[in-house]
Amino acid sequence: MSDEGSPLAGRRVVVGVSGSIAAYKAVSLVRLLAERGAVVDVAMTTAATAFVTPLTFASLTHRPVVSEVMALDPDEQIAHVELAEGADAIVLAPATANLLAELAAGLAGNAVTAMALASRAPVIVAPAMDAGMWTHPATLRNVETLRGFGHIIVEPEVGALASGLTGVGRLAESDTIVAAVESLFAHAGELEGLHVVVSAGGTREPIDPVRFLGNRSSGKMGVAIAEAARDRGATVTLVAGSMSVPAPRGVTAVEATTAAAMRTAVLRSAPSADILVMAAAVADFAPKRTSNSKIKRDGAGLQIDLVANPDIVAEVGEMADGVRPFLIGFAAETDDLEANALSKLRDKGLDLIVGNRVGGPFDAIGSEDNKVTVFGAEGPLTDWPMLPKRQVAERLWDLIVDRYRAARPPAGSRRSTRARRR
Ligand SMILES: Cc1cc2nc3c(=O)[nH]c(=O)nc-3n(C[C@H](O)[C@H](O)[C@H](O)COP(=O)(O)O)c2cc1C
Repeated sequence: MSDEGSPLAGRRVVVGVSGSIAAYKAVSLVRLLAERGAVVDVAMTTAATAFVTPLTFASLTHRPVVSEVMALDPDEQIAHVELAEGADAIVLAPATANLLAELAAGLAGNAVTAMALASRAPVIVAPAMDAGMWTHPATLRNVETLRGFGHIIVEPEVGALASGLTGVGRLAESDTIVAAVESLFAHAGELEGLHVVVSAGGTREPIDPVRFLGNRSSGKMGVAIAEAARDRGATVTLVAGSMSVPAPRGVTAVEATTAAAMRTAVLRSAPSADILVMAAAVADFAPKRTSNSKIKRDGAGLQIDLVANPDIVAEVGEMADGVRPFLIGFAAETDDLEANALSKLRDKGLDLIVGNRVGGPFDAIGSEDNKVTVFGAEGPLTDWPMLPKRQVAERLWDLIVDRYRAARPPAGSRRSTRARRR
């Protein structure tokens, strides 16, 4: 039974199964994906075959299962490479603690890791393990590394574990994993033909050759926005300030670690951009003078004169009709979020502004999750809960696409649509 209406119809999904007690749940996952119309292949680690036989998956998918790395497929091609190259998406479920560590380290010693490493398809990882393993710093670090690769993590749930204890570590429900795979394809191609520029991270304003004035921005929100735009088919330029995560694959990254460098990079790319999302935390001030040599401690204090940096968002906002991209800014505020965000939106000629609170009990800076409110000229547009940053990015693109299409219908020229908007 196939579901032609599902975004999975005709998609090639490779499910990688590893040696968890939850491996049997991959059987229902594979069946669900196939029912939604996906063409499903299965790769297994050796440990996984101790829990479920390859025969089970082969009889469900009617396709050979790859459980050895040193193997050719029926066409005499290297089996794991064939799977990797043909995949539209990879789903690693259940993913053991060991598999997470191997993926994070870039190892390729079994059919699942070799296939995942060889592929350029988006990867969804659904871990399952004992609560102690899941909360170990090594696992947390590995998960963080995988997020940095752009992999989507479907978090394990709280429940009864194989150990007999109750805790976090239970494989997410098959429906939840299937929904994550569907959402990968639900918006595919939506931004095809558009150039999206995203700025991310913080800036560092040099005081002397070793010191700088900076901020705590990690770049995670901007990177999630860039990844989501890439996965919707946009050509993406990431203007990257100082970031604690790597630039994602498949985007053009331009390094810009000072406000001045960021201004140059943004103004250079803005005229060819259809949509510009300014998620970077650009310093408002910079030292008036930068010392060429390291400033020495001499027992006295140090006074640093600061000057205002150029307001990059406002400069883009003032660009001429026909050149100015659809413009989304960010406001990080400790107080009066709504009033501050709305006045920033109006003063700087933004189409939308994303407000997040900083410095309070919840601090968006550097964290994995974010709670944002998006404002248009008419006021707040969203009431979203706290969400992982990738999910914030997906919701943000849903909203941006609606607004962008309304402001600039595909048939109309930029000039005429802009005239309508103003
Ligand atoms: C009965 C049993 C259940 C296990 N369940 C899990 C599990 O849920 N998660 C996990 O990370 N490891 C689990 N392990 C340990 C893994 O099987 C072991 O680390 C193995 O090396 C994983 O190999 P793989 O990642 O190549 O599949 C289990 C082991 C046994 C014997």
